[in-house]
Amino acid sequence: MELRTIAKELARAGLKPRFDEPIARHGFWRVGGPADLLVDVETPEQLALVLSTGAPVTCLGRGTNLLAADAGIRGIVVRLGGAFRSVEVREGPTGPEVEAGAGVSDAYLLARLAREGLGGLGALAGVPGTLGGAIRMNAGTRLGEVGERVIEVELALPGEVRRVPAAELHFRYRCVDLPSGAIITRARLSLDRDGFAAEQAAIRAHLAYRRRTQPLDQPSCGSVFKNPPGDHAGRLIEAVGLKGHTRGGARFSPLHANFIVNTGGATAADIHALLTLARRRVHERFGVVLEPEVHPVGDWPAGAWPLPSLA
Ligand code: EPU
Repeated sequence: MELRTIAKELARAGLKPRFDEPIARHGFWRVGGPADLLVDVETPEQLALVLSTGAPVTCLGRGTNLLAADAGIRGIVVRLGGAFRSVEVREGPTGPEVEAGAGVSDAYLLARLAREGLGGLGALAGVPGTLGGAIRMNAGTRLGEVGERVIEVELALPGEVRRVPAAELHFRYRCVDLPSGAIITRARLSLDRDGFAAEQAAIRAHLAYRRRTQPLDQPSCGSVFKNPPGDHAGRLIEAVGLKGHTRGGARFSPLHANFIVNTGGATAADIHALLTLARRRVHERFGVVLEPEVHPVGDWPAGAWPLPSLA
C-alpha cells in the first residue's frame, strides 16, 4: 500500500500521522533526516493497525541510543503513548512485581516505584530512555542490567501479540534476542522491597559519579561502544589520542572519550566517521575490535553498517 493511502487509513482510525518529520527533533543526539511517516499510538488496537499496513515499522522510544541516518527513515516510525505508559504494581508469587508499558520513561518508573518504597530497578537510575528501549538493549550501568529483573515481555508483531518469558530472550551485555520486526509493548519485572534503602544510597552515589565523569549537559547517546571484555572503550579511545577529537559538529567528549557529543550541527555521517576512526585506531594499536553500543536506524549508505571491516 502507498504511504499516502496508509496515512489516510490511519487518520480514519483517529490517528494523526505526520509526513517527513525530522528525527533530529526527537533523538538525544539531534541528528537524523525525516521519517516518511511518524505516528503516535495509544492503544494495542492502534499499534496492530499500524503493523497491519505492511509498511516497514521502526519503533522510537526517546531516541536516547539511536543513530538515525541523515537520509531519514523509510516507512512508518511509531511511538508508544497512552496505554503503553501504564504502571501496575502487584504482589507476585515470589514478591512485588511491576507490569509496565514499554513507552513509560525509566526515570518516571523509578520515581513512581520509589514513592512506594520499592527497589530492584536501580540499574536504570540515570538511564534516560523508555522501558521498552532499555529492554531492547538490556540497558545497564555498574549497578546491574535491566534484564536481570525481567520476568516476561509482551511483543507485538504483524497480526500477533506474544508474551515471552525472559529465559527465551537470552539477555546478555547490552544485547537480547528478539524476533525480527517485534516491538516490545509491555514487560513484567520483579522488584525488591527489603533492599530499597541500600539501593537508594547506591543510586545517589552512582548518579553523582556520572555527573562528574559524563558530559550529561550536551546532546549525546551515552556510550557509543560496548566495553570489550576486561577493558573500557573510553580508556582505549583516550589511549589512541582521540579524546576531544572532532569531525564536523561531532566530538569525542573531552570528559569521557566513549561519549560523542553534538557540539552543534553534527550530522549522522560525522558521528559515523568518528566511530569508524576510533575502531580502526584501537584495532591497529591494541588488536581490540570495538563493537558499537548505539543502534543505527534508517536509510544509511550501502556498506555503512556493520562498521567497515578492519581486515
Ligand atoms: N576512562 C578513561 N578515559 C575516558 C573515560 C573513561 O580512561 O575518557 C576509564 C575510567 O577512568 C575508568 C574506566 O575507563 O577507569 C571506566 O569508565 P566509567 O566508570 O566512566 O565507565 P564506562 O565503562 O565507560 C559504563 C557504561 C555506562 C555507565 C557507566 C557507569 C558501557 C558501555 N558503559 O561506562 O553506560 O553509565 O559504566 O555505570 O558499559 C551507556 O550505556 O550509554 C552508559 C553511559
